[in-house]
Amino acid sequence: MPRKVNYGPDYDDNYDEYDYGYEVDENANIFDLKSSRVSSTVVGRDEAVKVSSMRSDSSNQSTEKGKHNRLDEINILKNIEVGPPAGSRTSDNCSASVQEGWLGHVDESSVAVNLRSRGKSSLSLMPKERNVMVDDSSSSRNGGEANSLTSNLENISFAAKSRHSNDAKPGRAISRAQYKPEKWMLPEKAEHSLTQLNLAIVGHVDSGKSTLSGRLLHLLGRISQKEMHKYEKEAKLQGKGSFAYAWALDESAEERERGITMTVAVAYFDSKRYHVVVLDSPGHKDFVPNMITGATQADASILVIDASIGSFEAGMDGTKGQTREHAQLIRSFGIDQLIVAVNKMDAVDYSKERFDLIISQLGAFLRSCGFKDSSVSWIPLSAVENQNLVSAPSDFRLSWYLGPNLLDAIDSFQPPTREFSKPLIMPICDVIKSPSQGQVSACGKLEAGAVRSGSKLLILVLVMPSATIATVRSLERDSQACPIGRAGDNIAVSLNGIDGNHVMAGGVLCHPDFPIAFAKHLELKVLVLDGATPILIGSQLEFHIHHAKEAARVARISFLLDSKTGKVVKKAPRCILAKQSAVVEVILQEAVCVEEFSKCKVLGRVFLRTLGRTVAVGIVTRIVEEQQ
Ligand code: GTP
Ligand code: MG
Repeated sequence: MPRKVNYGPDYDDNYDEYDYGYEVDENANIFDLKSSRVSSTVVGRDEAVKVSSMRSDSSNQSTEKGKHNRLDEINILKNIEVGPPAGSRTSDNCSASVQEGWLGHVDESSVAVNLRSRGKSSLSLMPKERNVMVDDSSSSRNGGEANSLTSNLENISFAAKSRHSNDAKPGRAISRAQYKPEKWMLPEKAEHSLTQLNLAIVGHVDSGKSTLSGRLLHLLGRISQKEMHKYEKEAKLQGKGSFAYAWALDESAEERERGITMTVAVAYFDSKRYHVVVLDSPGHKDFVPNMITGATQADASILVIDASIGSFEAGMDGTKGQTREHAQLIRSFGIDQLIVAVNKMDAVDYSKERFDLIISQLGAFLRSCGFKDSSVSWIPLSAVENQNLVSAPSDFRLSWYLGPNLLDAIDSFQPPTREFSKPLIMPICDVIKSPSQGQVSACGKLEAGAVRSGSKLLILVLVMPSATIATVRSLERDSQACPIGRAGDNIAVSLNGIDGNHVMAGGVLCHPDFPIAFAKHLELKVLVLDGATPILIGSQLEFHIHHAKEAARVARISFLLDSKTGKVVKKAPRCILAKQSAVVEVILQEAVCVEEFSKCKVLGRVFLRTLGRTVAVGIVTRIVEEQQ
């Protein structure tokens, strides 16, 4: 059964229309467009849990400093010996380091590991007042460093030993390259017969994304005949008979009433090669941020086009069309494998001419976004008439098409590469709380490393930005308990020994020995999108990074770059115009979990938006100042 996901924060409904169409040179060194992977969460609508979005979490995140969950931590960590820091890093941070076997078979009664601490344990860390900008002074690099460092350390219960506070700069000395995974972290060949493929379904509003997804799930047995009858009956009763398949994905009353997808729906099916995680994205322009936070975790994508006369053109419209915007966004997420599902071919009499016209017009645009022709498959189909989805078309009007059907095209995707051998990183997309049972689960896609659960194991993870150590109670994948989650898996990690308020969407679960940074002053390389208004010093923007969103101010424009070569063409320009690239410094209203792109792509890729328009995409090139 499909599951509905509540991604991240709510967004304003009054977004303006936007328009851009930038050219990305594949050889340009400004952006590595082939890299990122993003994460999605699987939340059962019928599970007896509460899904907390980033916004709702943020309202209660001001935990009294230093008191959070101390007893729990002490209990869990009573046998953990606090050791000296393993080294230092230029910027301050908090790391809790478990040097040996932190995820291994550790007997709870005899665990003896070394921990270092970094950052603060109190949680006024995830902002959410919109448009309130940061005071420059708050980002002063060195002010009060030693004091605040000491007090931060004091606030972390597991790091309360005095020798830590003597360390001027405890930090993330151990480079991720030095990390050595344990054997169980690496998948055994026979263990996973099907590789997981996170597949984002994107495209202009009403192009038929949910109908296509629903139909596929039905054809592949993921939606039973009985359920389908129910959807048909209910949809008909509401005068929305044509949305029956879409209803399988559009589960909320508002979505069904409005006939649009608003949040990303997650569903699963198995093809011959893949365990496919379908991320059915909203196409409406008001919900582009939801599309971003969902599709940003995909390995590959299906761009759904409405072939009907006028509809394809509307999607390609420079000011109103989401076909262009979605294509640009997924490319900048690092997705380079694409199926273009030319849907509603029934509405154009399965015309080859129409199909060819769409290929020629959209193909040129996709090339300009950086998609290689060889990585794009074009499939004419009709979701409503079930043509060319999982078998060759039966309608003779499509007999001119001799290529693969949609399911075969999905199986032709190259398997995604996974960072199994790197330290754990899981950006938190959703938080599930069960107050009655005192349980909290962090949901997201494991971007790197692995995690496991077990009654006799003490599995420690570091929850950022609260810099709190928690233990793993259990894991769920596809709403089923599972012993191990590895890079690429969408999982829910149930945590013990942590206050629920210290786990938030926009945060990150990481390896205690390799804490990720938490910062508000960042240097970025950005590309301003075609049609966007110029970015000036002082411009106030919405800053999107993995599942976090923050108000940001452009504090400095350092250089204008040649967008093809990446070379500096001008120092300290006053503004950046559409299609220009530049190095800028931004100061966020509140700090976010972040890494330099060169170190961790998924935590270093950003999107800048304003007034409902994505104005720039970029990468984090430097963390100017980490939070203590
Ligand atoms: P958003 O999520 O709101 O962007 O819409 P969507 O892309 O998910 O479109 P949805 O599946 O909700 O379908 C929109 C309308 O298109 C519905 O009335 C569908 O019945 C119709 N539709 C979808 N696929 C086809 C098709 O193959 N042929 C025809 N004629 N109509 C279709
Ligand atoms: Mg939809």
